[in-house]
Amino acid sequence: MRRRNEDMNFVLAVHRWRGRLIAAAAAAGFALAVAVQVSAAAATAQEHPAEPHQHADAQALENPVEPTRESLVAGRQRYVFLCRQCHGNRGAGDGDMSHAGGIPSDFTDDVWTHGASDGEIFTVIKEGVTADMQGYGNQLRDEDIWNLVNYIKSLSR
Ligand code: HEC
Repeated sequence: MRRRNEDMNFVLAVHRWRGRLIAAAAAAGFALAVAVQVSAAAATAQEHPAEPHQHADAQALENPVEPTRESLVAGRQRYVFLCRQCHGNRGAGDGDMSHAGGIPSDFTDDVWTHGASDGEIFTVIKEGVTADMQGYGNQLRDEDIWNLVNYIKSLSR
C-alpha cells in the first residue's frame, strides 16, 4: 500500500511538471511571435527599399494641376524655401545639407526610386520616405505639393 502511494505521488508530480512545461513552451512561443511581429514592423518603418520600386495606390492619384507656367513658378517658390538646401538649386541633388546622412535624389536624371508617376512623387513629398526626406503634408496644401511635382519634373526635361 505504501509503495503504491509513492508511485501515485510520482505520477502526479510528473503530471504537474508536464503541465508547467507546456505552459512555459506556450509562453515562449507567444513571446517569439510578438518579437517577430515587432521586428517586422520596425523593418517596414525604417527600411524603405533603397532599390527603385513602385507604389500602385499612389500611382492611381491623378495630378489635378496642369504644369502651366504659373504652376511651375509657384512650385519653384516652395522649392527654394524647402527643398533646395538638399536637392540643389537646379535639382541635381547637390545641395549640401542632409540631417541623417541620406543622399538627396537628383531630379535631373530619369531615376525615380519611389516611382516616376505624378501620384507617387506627390506621395513621397506629402508623406516622406526617410529621416532626411520627411513628409511635408503638415506644411503644404495639396495644391502646393502638385506645383512642386510639376516643378521638379520640369527639371529633367
Ligand atoms: C534634409 C534634406 C532634404 C530636404 C529638405 C528635402 N529632401 Fe527630398 N530627399 C532627400 C533625400 C536624402 C532623398 C532620398 C531618399 C531615399 O533614400 O530614397 C529625397 C528624396 C526625394 C524624392 C524621391 C525621388 C525619387 O527618386 O523617387 C522626392 C520626390 C523629393 N525628395 C522631393 C523633395 C521636395 C519636393 C522637397 C521640398 C518640399 C524635398 N524633397 C526636401 C532629402 C531632402
